Amino acid sequence: MKWEFINHMDKIYALLGELEEKDRENGLERDYPLSWERVHAASCAQIGRLLAQKRGVDIELAALACSIHDIGRWYTGRQKDHALYGEEPVRKFLASYSLEEKDKEEITQAVIHHSEKDMIGSPIEEIVKDADILDCYLHGDKITKPYHVARLEKIMEELGI
Ligand SMILES: [Fe+2]
Repeated sequence: MKWEFINHMDKIYALLGELEEKDRENGLERDYPLSWERVHAASCAQIGRLLAQKRGVDIELAALACSIHDIGRWYTGRQKDHALYGEEPVRKFLASYSLEEKDKEEITQAVIHHSEKDMIGSPIEEIVKDADILDCYLHGDKITKPYHVARLEKIMEELGI
């Protein structure tokens, strides 16, 4: 089959590059290095595409939501409450996209709520949470919280991996 791809990553790499410049000026110490943010953004987007294809969700909206889900942490450098801190920057980021308002809102809500992995959200929100967990697992993170393990097992069964 043929997939229609949109390259969301150029904008994201440009933003992360700007933040890297700022870090050099102000010496921000981050909970996660920007090198991880780059990798995680790109690989979550790819996992998001696969999950979206399987679930009949818009592939590019899912990829975009997955790629920017940690935008709050990109700005603050902090893991604590980073999903909530994502609201303002994600709205700003999406302002330049010619998407329908309801799609922008769904992506924004997915960013805000992506840490609530014990809750079930919209289809895009679920893809963001699932891609996040699977990507961390595939990068060798220890998945220990019972609701994270349960989510991971479900995704792996869905994907037959
Ligand atoms: Fe996150």
